[in-house]
Amino acid sequence: MKYTKALVVGNWKLNPGTSIEAKSLALAIKKHVAKYKETQVVVAPPFLFIPDVARNLTKTEVKLGAQDAHFEERGACTGEVSPVMLATFGVTYVIVGHSERRALGETNKQVNLKIQTILKRKQTPIVCIGEKVRDSQGLFFNEIEEQVRSLAEKLTPVMLSRIVIAYEPIWAIGTGATATAEDVKEMQLFIVSVLTKIYERKVAAKVHLIYGGSVKSSNALELYQEGGMNGFLVGGASLQAKEFAAIVAMTLPKEAKK
Ligand code: PGA
Repeated sequence: MKYTKALVVGNWKLNPGTSIEAKSLALAIKKHVAKYKETQVVVAPPFLFIPDVARNLTKTEVKLGAQDAHFEERGACTGEVSPVMLATFGVTYVIVGHSERRALGETNKQVNLKIQTILKRKQTPIVCIGEKVRDSQGLFFNEIEEQVRSLAEKLTPVMLSRIVIAYEPIWAIGTGATATAEDVKEMQLFIVSVLTKIYERKVAAKVHLIYGGSVKSSNALELYQEGGMNGFLVGGASLQAKEFAAIVAMTLPKEAKK
């Protein structure tokens, strides 16, 4: 059951190479998704391109996201960018805990601190979780449980209702291997069951979950209809405006009901 608008986020990662390309990608996405108002679309360019992309995202429902932010608002944190700074450029969504950042050392504890700082700024954290491998004994569920418990630490039910959890199995990111819709559905139920141990059932059931990992227009409809999650975090396919818009189209209420 869908409680809120679907959310489709384009994570551009370390792309494109220049600001000019970033601006034209933003304009193309804006044009191609203009009629899909029933789904919330977000683009997350590299930090440096955010001001230029922001200028090209006026008069659109497309929102601006960032790929990370520090948990401190200011101070002795060389090389970092804070949610406050991002807010001044109109950033309303911030991805945290992406597996590519976790691989560089980001911990569950830091992810939790980032969520709290981002929420304080009234931005929406998109919190990535996911297992490295799927073992046949199902031990990967423990990994997910640990990530979920840690992200929820110190979050009140109201705070939980303002975050998005992106389930991204690491083995499916950028590899072309997608989780099946069944795997995604099973994980949706599992995440809700872990949250139910911490919060009341109705609080846990309302958390906004999205899926990421090799999402394309060719697999999006099945993943959306049967996976039980309400949107996607898209990497590679978000760099082609038409393909990205085609993924967004699969989450529209009339498509999803087919
Ligand atoms: P992918 O990346 O769509 O290229 O697999 C997803 C992500 O890392 O957010």
